[in-house]
Amino acid sequence: MFTFYTEKFSPPNYVRIFDTTLRDGEQTPGVALNVEQKILIAKQLNKLGVDIIEAGFPAATKGEKEAVKSIKALGLSSKICALSRCKKEDIDAAIDCDVDIIHIFIPTSDIQIKYTIKKSKEEILNIVYESVKYVKEHGFKCLFSAMDATRTDLNFLINVFKTAEEAGTDYINIPDTVGIATPEKMFEIVKTIRKNVKTPIDVHCHNDLGLAVANSIASVLAGADGVQVTVNGLGERAGNASLEQVVTILKYIYGIKTNVKTEYLYETSKLVERLTGVKLMPNYPIVGENAFSHESGIHTHGVVQKPETFEPGIIKPEMVGHKRRIVAGKHSGTHGLEKILKEMGYELSKEQIRIVVDRVKELGDKGKRVTEADLQAIVEDLIGRIQDKKIVELEELAVMTGNKVIPTASVKIKFKDKILIGSDTGVGPVDAAIKAIRSVIKEIEDIKLVEYRLEAISGGSDALASVTVILEDSRGIKATGRAVREDIVMASVEAMIQGINRIFALRER
Ligand code: KIV
Ligand code: ZN
Repeated sequence: MFTFYTEKFSPPNYVRIFDTTLRDGEQTPGVALNVEQKILIAKQLNKLGVDIIEAGFPAATKGEKEAVKSIKALGLSSKICALSRCKKEDIDAAIDCDVDIIHIFIPTSDIQIKYTIKKSKEEILNIVYESVKYVKEHGFKCLFSAMDATRTDLNFLINVFKTAEEAGTDYINIPDTVGIATPEKMFEIVKTIRKNVKTPIDVHCHNDLGLAVANSIASVLAGADGVQVTVNGLGERAGNASLEQVVTILKYIYGIKTNVKTEYLYETSKLVERLTGVKLMPNYPIVGENAFSHESGIHTHGVVQKPETFEPGIIKPEMVGHKRRIVAGKHSGTHGLEKILKEMGYELSKEQIRIVVDRVKELGDKGKRVTEADLQAIVEDLIGRIQDKKIVELEELAVMTGNKVIPTASVKIKFKDKILIGSDTGVGPVDAAIKAIRSVIKEIEDIKLVEYRLEAISGGSDALASVTVILEDSRGIKATGRAVREDIVMASVEAMIQGINRIFALRER
């Protein structure tokens, strides 16, 4: 039992998760996903375990209809839903996609009735009844939304939902379309609707005032059975309630179950970030890069002893598929840096660590972000350049490029006493050479190129090129490789070989 203002309530045991990343999320300004991208996201949402995937709005475009059809054809465990206005032609487009649920909506607030739909309330009730009936007569499950519900006259809203219920809808949805509600208001509306209709209730909260998550949680506490959410809180304007936050709060704060496997939240967020191109702010809760990162000396000292000292504790990074990171910066302390350096494979004396801390703080004071590569450079400078062991050596390299050929590179590499030969193509000679090295080394270890930086040291076409690469192996061990040459391809190849040798050296350590 929890107390919400003056109310006593018992939250439900289970909440249905309706994901609308592919529909409302795609309405994020600047986002447009193609069919293949939508399919990748749908498969990931299915792996995550959402109950319902709103795959799109089939009446909007041909491509959208094709995407919804293709997602339905995947035969995923999550139910597939399509959006439709309360119009026969829209509903027919959703029917054509053979989805599991058709989500129909109509505006119900005075302002939207007056300026958008321009119908009488009586006419709206008729449309609701006829549209739900039409969906049901075609054998589909129906979800009915009263758009702008939170600005709708409450008596009319009750009437609208009762009408949808009479016509046989399977679910009703209360959207806070313009994100104007507060948790108390959502609580009151849901409670009132709950008293008047028996049909399962969803809520759909927008984040215009940053309250979408709080409003969704308050709705569940008031009796909503389902929440409509998006990955990374994408959606119209300021977005929708964040799936990651809603699910984590329900599970770990209120003990309310969902079907979502929270350990996949971070990878889902990353996939959606990559495919939509909408970069998550680092301080985004649960899945943001800084969500479990610590820099300040006081915090890292505590966290190294016991993570709960400066983390919520009840939510650990591994529960959401994330990682705890101690970050080097001007606020760093000895304990934090010692841990980072150990993870990087360096065992330094107390005195050496103190010198690294001073150097990091000095850089921080100059406004520099201290990356792992910088830290590596500082340490190597301090302990004298690591005598790079030649575990991997380049024996031969041949690169072909031109205006009528696909850039291709062939390499012969010596790994210990083995000779490895391979080739690959790329968008240019550097890309081809890097890919050829990676594909040859893959026989031993899958080494990813995390970062590639090219700087021209002097001017002119014969300028010296400095290439820095950051590489990562399958265990998460990272190393940098650097090389300076007049030839960009050779500089890139040497930097790669150096980075690979360092990874193998760190693995041996
Ligand atoms: O925000 C909204 O009202 C919607 C409806 C279509 C449910 O997205
Ligand atoms: Zn919406």
